[in-house]
Amino acid sequence: MDFEKNISLRKLNTFGINVKCKFYCKVQSEKEMVSVINSEEYNNNSHLILSGGSNVLFLKDYEGLIIQNEIKGKQIIEEKSESTILRVGAGENWHQFVLWSIKNGLSGLENMALIPGNVGSSPMQNIGAYGVEVKDFIVSVEGVNLDTKEAFILKNSECNFEYRDSIFKHELKEKVMITHVNFELSKSPINNTKYGAIKEEIRSLGLPVSTESICKAVINIRTRKLPNPEVIGNIGSFFKNPVISTSEFLKTQKQYSEIVGYKVSETETKVAAGWLIDQCGWKGYRKGDAGVHKNQALVLVNHGNATGEEIISLSKEIQRSVKNKFEIDIHPEVNIIG
Ligand code: FAD
Ligand code: EPU
Repeated sequence: MDFEKNISLRKLNTFGINVKCKFYCKVQSEKEMVSVINSEEYNNNSHLILSGGSNVLFLKDYEGLIIQNEIKGKQIIEEKSESTILRVGAGENWHQFVLWSIKNGLSGLENMALIPGNVGSSPMQNIGAYGVEVKDFIVSVEGVNLDTKEAFILKNSECNFEYRDSIFKHELKEKVMITHVNFELSKSPINNTKYGAIKEEIRSLGLPVSTESICKAVINIRTRKLPNPEVIGNIGSFFKNPVISTSEFLKTQKQYSEIVGYKVSETETKVAAGWLIDQCGWKGYRKGDAGVHKNQALVLVNHGNATGEEIISLSKEIQRSVKNKFEIDIHPEVNIIG
């Protein structure tokens, strides 16, 4: 196994934070992973699995081994009358997998087109967009437990999936390497257009509603709304949208009638954190190279040479101001590597 030493991680995280790691390697198969976990570099150092780097914030140099997961492959496991079960390598690019599934007549993932990153990270925070979450299509998650070095397979019900959350962010945080994700996709179109903007975009494109047109609409909307990390460093939404009791929401709404919220259960409402941050006047703010995007207040940006500490310190100021104005706590979505 080849280990590189002292390499820059700047191009390996979409925030573009300029840090280094002590050791770095890529794994392209489960066999290579076994050879890594039997190495001195692995056993004498802390270790972190990295995929597309689109949801991490490094606060300082990583004094351990970074293992980049490049296990590829898409395999049909089972054909059912209405659906197909697929086993997909963690190192497959997410968006390319979505396009491939659509091309192969499978429906379900189209609303999540263009989310950056890899397939293996999709269960981590149960990625979601435009009214759909990946948990609705995951059958099970396979991987290696980094402590016991044993293979595991977790069924969907064992992954504790919630909004932007799963067992991999809690009990199994930094304890596993996901090697494959098994998905069940529909052979007939699902056509989920409950997110209003999709319907409008499809109408303006003059297309009928289909798996393909939903995918196209999502790509268009996302390209307009979200900054491209190739142009400006970011990790998408920095904070999660807070879920508060509907009674608290209604109280706040009396004072701020424009507040944006969506009912998520009988008693709870999800509030648009972007609106809260925007109302506190942060949109377009810049301090050094750390800033808040000019069109989307939920997205923190690196204008060039911001450090992780500068980004985190800005995020804390934002959290405090939202708390002071609205009495609402907002929490980071990003994985902070300190
Ligand atoms: P990484 O950033 O490499 O890793 C994320 C975390 O998972 C880290 O803690 C890492 O240690 C761990 N990890 C990664 N791979 C493995 C593995 N194989 N085994 C074990 N642990 C692993 N997210 C959404 O949900 N919805 C969106 O709409 C969305 N839009 C975005 C838009 C932009 C412009 C950007 C930059 C990001 C956006 N994101 C969105 C966030 C991000 O794309 C997702 O969280 C994505 O799943 C991260 O994938 P990644 O491969 O880059 O993971
Ligand atoms: N808003 C403002 N000002 C802003 C930003 C947003 O007023 O600066 C308002 C918008 O006008 C809208 C509301 O806030 O009324 C919600 O905004 P938007 O529809 O853009 O969605 P979001 O809550 O900002 C969430 C996800 C995104 C996902 C989109 C589409 C979270 C934390 N973010 O964003 O996911 O792509 O919905 O489904 O749930 C990510 O997780 O990284 C991510 C980009």
